[in-house]
Amino acid sequence: MLDIGVVGAGLRGRLFARALRQIPDVRIVAVADANSAAGEAFAAEFGAAAHPDHRALLAASPGLAGLVVATPDFAHRDAAVDAARTGVGLLIEKPLATDVAEAEQIHEAVQQSGTKAMVAFENRWNPRFVLTRHQVRSGAVGDVLFQCAHLNDTTFVPRTMLSWAARTTPGWFLMPHTVDLALWLSGKRPKTVYATGLRRVMAASGIDTYDGIHALVTFTDDTTLTLQSHWMLPESYPSVFDFRYELVGERAALQIDGADEGVSMAGPRYQWLHHATLEDDGRVIGVAAEIARSFVDLLTGARRPDDVPTVAEAVVVTTVVAAIHQSIEAGVPVQLGSAAG
Ligand SMILES: NC(=O)c1ccc[n+]([C@@H]2O[C@H](COP(=O)([O-])OP(=O)(O)OC[C@H]3O[C@@H](n4cnc5c(N)ncnc54)[C@H](O)[C@@H]3O)[C@@H](O)[C@H]2O)c1
Repeated sequence: MLDIGVVGAGLRGRLFARALRQIPDVRIVAVADANSAAGEAFAAEFGAAAHPDHRALLAASPGLAGLVVATPDFAHRDAAVDAARTGVGLLIEKPLATDVAEAEQIHEAVQQSGTKAMVAFENRWNPRFVLTRHQVRSGAVGDVLFQCAHLNDTTFVPRTMLSWAARTTPGWFLMPHTVDLALWLSGKRPKTVYATGLRRVMAASGIDTYDGIHALVTFTDDTTLTLQSHWMLPESYPSVFDFRYELVGERAALQIDGADEGVSMAGPRYQWLHHATLEDDGRVIGVAAEIARSFVDLLTGARRPDDVPTVAEAVVVTTVVAAIHQSIEAGVPVQLGSAAG
């Protein structure tokens, strides 16, 4: 039996727990959530023991093989570092951390203990981007010159979905996905970052964060990545998010629509029905199920530690997104050091 614990019993913690428990010989044994009601509800659903925090969970679960860290963006470090130090394997939600020093602390703890760890950059399991990477790696695209990613949310996300929106930004919540994709698809190393951010509508409504961020990342070979992430789409938009990715190479250009997955429904309102991850009769299928499978394979040794999004790669992503925020605040481009790649 592979015993797994979960820290953060919210949307993602529950999704991964459902995806993990359907794998033979895996059971969800423990949960820790800062909100006791969320922890108790999770414990009842999974037959797990509820704990007030990750330290109590780790102390009470000596045989734990793995821990899912699905706390809010800014609260991954403590659970990740303490679990790594006890040799427990880690599946950490993106972003690894919202602070470069914290990201490096997680990396150091994982390196020192030699524990197995991966970061849930979920687009790496999305067939659209897997296919894109195949094209790049096959040589059909040639050198990647320009990448451009729009990943935006409707106002539902900061206003309703995330109780902690004021403690993150569209940069930290959304850009880790697109920065990781750009690095993974192209293999480039970031050199400089220039960004601007608008703080107007959300801040005026009491959610003190950016409405949106635009960033230009230049790589060491002078090729570029343009990023847009805002959460200002109206809630009448057919999907809670919009995702468009363009990659232009020397010999070919690819355009990937990551939001319209091909099933639309016109009813009281017009909607794009997402199915990259789907729960069908209580069974999780698609991307989240693949991530859970990869985590179990990593823990059992069936998958190589570098065949998943690594903590080292996630440190680079955090470094780039931190530089984006620094550039907004300073109003000038930010040079990235050697740590960024
Ligand atoms: N598609 C994606 O890849 C995707 C989508 C949504 C969220 N996420 C990421 O997943 C993570 C969790 O997001 P979510 O939407 O599940 O959030 P959520 O608000 O639904 O759940 C977070 C839970 O963590 C608990 N919590 C907060 N601080 C804690 C602490 N210190 N210790 C223990 N529990 C704590 C909260 O009480 C809450 O129950 C975030 O990092 C987010 O960016 C990824």
